[in-house]
Amino acid sequence: MRSLISILDFSVEELDALIATAKDIIAYPDKYREACKYKKLATLFFEPSTRTRLSFEAAMLELGGSVLGFSEASSSSASKGESMADTAKILSCYVDIMAIRHPREGAPYVASRNATVPVINAGDGGHNHPTQTLADLLTISREKGRLHDLTIGLCGDLKYGRTVHSLIEAMARYSGIRFVLISPKELRLPGYIRGNVLDAHGIPYEEVFSLEEAMPQLDVLYMTRIQRERFDSVEEYERLKNSYVLDVEKMALGKSDMCVLHPLPRVNEISVKVDDDPRAAYFRQALNGKYMRMALILKLLEEAKNPEKEPLDSEGLVYDRVCTNPKCISAVEQELPHICRLTEPELGIHRCIYCEQKV
Ligand code: CP
Repeated sequence: MRSLISILDFSVEELDALIATAKDIIAYPDKYREACKYKKLATLFFEPSTRTRLSFEAAMLELGGSVLGFSEASSSSASKGESMADTAKILSCYVDIMAIRHPREGAPYVASRNATVPVINAGDGGHNHPTQTLADLLTISREKGRLHDLTIGLCGDLKYGRTVHSLIEAMARYSGIRFVLISPKELRLPGYIRGNVLDAHGIPYEEVFSLEEAMPQLDVLYMTRIQRERFDSVEEYERLKNSYVLDVEKMALGKSDMCVLHPLPRVNEISVKVDDDPRAAYFRQALNGKYMRMALILKLLEEAKNPEKEPLDSEGLVYDRVCTNPKCISAVEQELPHICRLTEPELGIHRCIYCEQKV
């Protein structure tokens, strides 16, 4: 049984195949109108969403399937204390596939270990957002005509911006990719991604503060919102919230064939005046998300015909350490075993299998 929890669950070949399917859906939508007839998708959203939830629902409806679910935790039995594991077991009785957004890091992973149908991570805390990455990949492919040999600038909240984490993990596997990480030092990319993804694979990157200085070299600029809901301190958010605003003046510093992406929603980090620039691709990116989610649903339902559950990879697992990340699902889930993995043996670093924080 395949699920999509991290973008690393799929090989580059599988990502390329999903992009090809999405492009075929765009070209020949009628071919897919009944592809999921009699199939049901549950959208279990314990956190707010516009694009992800509704594009999942539109995707399933356009494939001829049906949708059920909830859009806030307060209307589910999670508000009575039901665990993620039990919720996943129950939903497996009702639907063929489920998409889960949750504020706790690792919650969709726990669901996937307990469900008997495919589980899709629709965003878990500040950790991962792999289906946004699918939208990003199709957008870069359509806007630039390639996914290799690109200089990609990632700007804003690189610490809590889960879309950035998943996008780096995906793009680092294509050749000729270079990253420019543009952020205040307080919102730097987490060490586990710099270490495990960029440094470990020799991916070139630089960390800078100035968006203006970075602009001229970029093929893709990926703007992000400062993630107010992830900050422990309101004062810290207030101090950092206006760190970057992409405006018409800064756009003039960019290449004529650069494209600007943003997972949205935006607050003030892209001036509305930039929307008229043909290089602004973020609304096309939101549409691409629907096509990639259609391709993903098709793939996972096809693979679910072989219901065998993938065993937990036992290499390097350690059971005697407790994750101290207060945002990890293991901090609240009843009787969830604390498990970590030796991920960087040369440094003796263990990481929680749910949230990937150092333990
Ligand atoms: N990009 C994204 O995840 O948007 P929503 O929060 O509206 O789903």
